[in-house]
Amino acid sequence: MENQKKPGIRMDYTGMMSGSQNPKGFKKEELLGLQNAMDQAQATLANRRENGEIDFSKLLVSMKTQLSEIIEYADSVAPKFENFVVLGIGGSALGPLAIHQALNHYYYNDLAPEQRGHRPRFYVLDNIDPVRVHELLQMLDPSKTLFNVISKSGNTSETMAQFLIVRDNLQQVCGDNYAEHIVITTDKEKGNLLPIALKEGYQRFVIPAGIGGRFSELTPVGLLAAAICGIDINQLLEGALGMDQWIREAKGVFSNPAQLRAALAHLSWQKGKNISVFMPYADGLKTMADWYAQLWAESLGKGYDRQGRAVHIGQTPVKALGVTDQHSQVQLYAEGPDDKVITFVAVEKFKETQGIPIDLELPEDIQFLGGRTLEELLFAEQKATEYALTLAGRQHQKIILPTLDAYHIGQLLLLLEWETAYMGELLNINAFDQPGVEEGKNGTYALMGRKGYEQKKQDIEEYGKIRHTLSLDI
Ligand code: PA5
Repeated sequence: MENQKKPGIRMDYTGMMSGSQNPKGFKKEELLGLQNAMDQAQATLANRRENGEIDFSKLLVSMKTQLSEIIEYADSVAPKFENFVVLGIGGSALGPLAIHQALNHYYYNDLAPEQRGHRPRFYVLDNIDPVRVHELLQMLDPSKTLFNVISKSGNTSETMAQFLIVRDNLQQVCGDNYAEHIVITTDKEKGNLLPIALKEGYQRFVIPAGIGGRFSELTPVGLLAAAICGIDINQLLEGALGMDQWIREAKGVFSNPAQLRAALAHLSWQKGKNISVFMPYADGLKTMADWYAQLWAESLGKGYDRQGRAVHIGQTPVKALGVTDQHSQVQLYAEGPDDKVITFVAVEKFKETQGIPIDLELPEDIQFLGGRTLEELLFAEQKATEYALTLAGRQHQKIILPTLDAYHIGQLLLLLEWETAYMGELLNINAFDQPGVEEGKNGTYALMGRKGYEQKKQDIEEYGKIRHTLSLDI
């Protein structure tokens, strides 16, 4: 396709297909059998996109026009602050974290300022563990810190609580200038964060209306944090736009990577593979596995189909890391229940090569490593794991990134988002809502005394009266 300026990411799905060593694999015809459903899904998704239901794709173009504003702001604040802290949770935290870990120096925060291009250290507070929050705030000097409060709804208790603590802290330390240390990313019109920001004069970025948290990485949610920490967000968007166009235009399950991955996921789910393992062989992609886990779980784990019938459907995502988890989880994948489908993510060319020294004095059984590289060892281990799983009759596939750079990460995000959207269509569920999360949010409001939730509070207290417990008095 015209937009494909560099070699793009590739997929190798041999391990999913039937072959001499893999008789249980799928036949080509089985994938082709889903083609009508895929054509239908492609048309439906195109409509949903037009109607503003799947803005993660539609808004990429308008995001491109906002990049200069984001970069200008990022470049203006980056030299002024030693620390940049994201306050957010779920989709408002995992994307920024994943991109940072994939694209910045692995020990970015430990580098000297000049090695970081005089950009701030980066932290994400995506929980409300009092120890973690307290210790971070104790460690950072608020007067040298910029806080980015990210909340689409502007109502999330965890993020709002963090915000109130940070704001109070800043007011005490920075006095009248405290607002210069807060930038918010939220909805254009809704939520409780917005009026406070307008009243107190915080810098503000908008999360477009039709985008849910887990699909929002390529909006100011992720782009601002990335730009502040020196990531090339132009390239990130460039890669995403190319993949987006390809997926929207490519016809046929063997040409369209999102259709292909969704078809493989659907066939495997139909055959009882209730677990989807995402296993990158690159430490930089470890948090990408967290982001994928949220995307897959929250989008596809649903109680009711589009007609309101109870279905209780979904495939459980599991995050793993190669090679580390070869020594903890692969035993289960190879010999435990055959209920998993595994996606390896491989990087073809790492930005660094690390040679292994030769020492001829060493025992022969270690000498074979000398003169090779860690890259070679990693590739060998990944390939050997594939082989072992194939011998064990387990299905697996691979996404291959030519390099771990912004362009290919942009492609990967869009591939996984579109795959999820396609899977939602095949399962006949709404992949873009999260009703199961809302009940917990409402319960929290009730227990914490929010007005209007009095009845819920009573219900929860009633439910909690009878407990089954065990106490150890040792
Ligand atoms: O994907 C989602 O929609 C959720 O994970 C939300 O991002 C998360 O609940 C935080 O919500 P908000 O951004 O409204 O604070």
